[in-house]
Amino acid sequence: NSMLSWQRTAFHFQPEKNWMNDPNGPLFYKGWYHFFYQYNPNAAVWGDIVWGHAVSRDMIHWLHLPLAMVADQWYDVQGVWTGSATILPDGKVMMLYTGSTNESVQVQNLAYPANHDDPLLLDWVKHPGNPVLVPPPGIHHKDFRDPTTAWKTSEGKWRITIGSKVNKTGIALIYDTEDFINFELKEGFLHGVPGTGMWECVDFYPVAVAGGNGLDTSVNGAGVRHVVKASLDDDRHDYYAIGTYDEEAGKWYPDNPAIDVGIGIRYDYGIFYASKTFFDQSKQRRVLWGWIGEWDSEAADVRKGWASLQGMPRTVVLDTKTGSNLLQWPVVESESLRLRSKEFKNVVAKPGAVVPIKLEAATQLDIVAEFELDKEAVERAVESDEEFKCSSSKGAAHRGALGPFGLLVLSEETLSEQTPVYFYVVKGKNATLRTYFCADQSRSSLANDVNKQIYGSYVPVLTGEKFAVRMLVDHSIIESFAQGGRSVITSRVYPTKAIYGAARLFLFNNGTEAGVTASLKVWQMNSAFIRPFPNL
Ligand code: FRU
Repeated sequence: NSMLSWQRTAFHFQPEKNWMNDPNGPLFYKGWYHFFYQYNPNAAVWGDIVWGHAVSRDMIHWLHLPLAMVADQWYDVQGVWTGSATILPDGKVMMLYTGSTNESVQVQNLAYPANHDDPLLLDWVKHPGNPVLVPPPGIHHKDFRDPTTAWKTSEGKWRITIGSKVNKTGIALIYDTEDFINFELKEGFLHGVPGTGMWECVDFYPVAVAGGNGLDTSVNGAGVRHVVKASLDDDRHDYYAIGTYDEEAGKWYPDNPAIDVGIGIRYDYGIFYASKTFFDQSKQRRVLWGWIGEWDSEAADVRKGWASLQGMPRTVVLDTKTGSNLLQWPVVESESLRLRSKEFKNVVAKPGAVVPIKLEAATQLDIVAEFELDKEAVERAVESDEEFKCSSSKGAAHRGALGPFGLLVLSEETLSEQTPVYFYVVKGKNATLRTYFCADQSRSSLANDVNKQIYGSYVPVLTGEKFAVRMLVDHSIIESFAQGGRSVITSRVYPTKAIYGAARLFLFNNGTEAGVTASLKVWQMNSAFIRPFPNL
């Protein structure tokens, strides 16, 4: 349906048609980035899941390849589900994935490239002895999925973790193996958190305390912290926590139990799920992929013939300034899409003002913006005990002394459609400032079959820092990175009027007390021209 075709994105990864979900087995191999994904070849809804496959030199420009694995064995006939790649020291690739069997039992299977000399890794062999793991005693046969990349133990074995649950406690089981065929279940689990339910797509990786480069998954020891991430099946969000890995005990402990996995920090406060990192050995960085679903109705997905995107891959490092959160940032290759830019310096928005930011077009953008609140007004502002929450306040229509202020993205000229992405500052006791970063979808579309929630969270803004945001706008997706990537919000929006040439960008300040001064640089973004597999 051409009426809906504008919602297609120009530089985010998506298949040519039909349904996609989780990223699978990302890796860099012989000069190529490989990306596999959960794919339904038959419809724009979840089902009949197989592994889609694409390759790229830069994680931006992709070539679609034939399906990597299909549901052709009793142990994966109900679905070739999520898995992860491990590159062995000799360069061989081991792919562990979950199969849903003919009896809907979740088992783990091994696959490997048929030809390791083929940089495109077109053909995959399923190990004849599959499955290599079945649910252990005490684990429900439908609660055992999504093996991680393996990492080395000091004994020289490989170790993986697999998500599950016991009653309402989400857990990460661990197994050791020498050959990816025979596995030994370790007693206890790597970690578990009561009340969090089934842990899908667990991820486990080291980050350097000093920041800088990413680390291979096997790196351990001094100067390293470990991240555990779980995708909570019950609330469909990805939560991580930073902590300490005790290799001998096979345990991980959060730095701060109050913000443990599933009850604390999220990668993204919008729509972002089933994510997975990999270590890119060519650029010594850890890269995060995440599945971005749709926020329109299933009927609309069927009409448009496709559903889901992958987020722009993000580098992840520890935030050395706070030590308590990660920083996520679009991979540097995203900047190769930047075309013409326009700069807007010291644009002032008085309390209550909406200021147009004049651009030639506003549907494919990379925006870098900084905001400052009028200092005297901040000093004058009365201390308040407001308990602000992005989701329960009136969104961008709420008016406080110091915000909301930010940008109206994919807006229509008269503001009948608009997606505000903004900061809100609360001045509390002893003049301490607390900042929230939010995105308000409530007026993003005149259509009524789309999700219109307001999202966001607290974001640390340190002394001397301005309020800063980078935003990637791509037709129906807005990815917003605040404070260098301390907090991220991905929005899916479906405007009916603010499309193509009718889309606009505005600066807004809905605070009542302080003026806002903004400086922006805005690039038009090129399309990535993702290419179909040639019919040879
Ligand atoms: C997460 C998930 C995984 C599973 C896959 C099936 O979105 O449910 O747990 O392996 O998707 O498509």
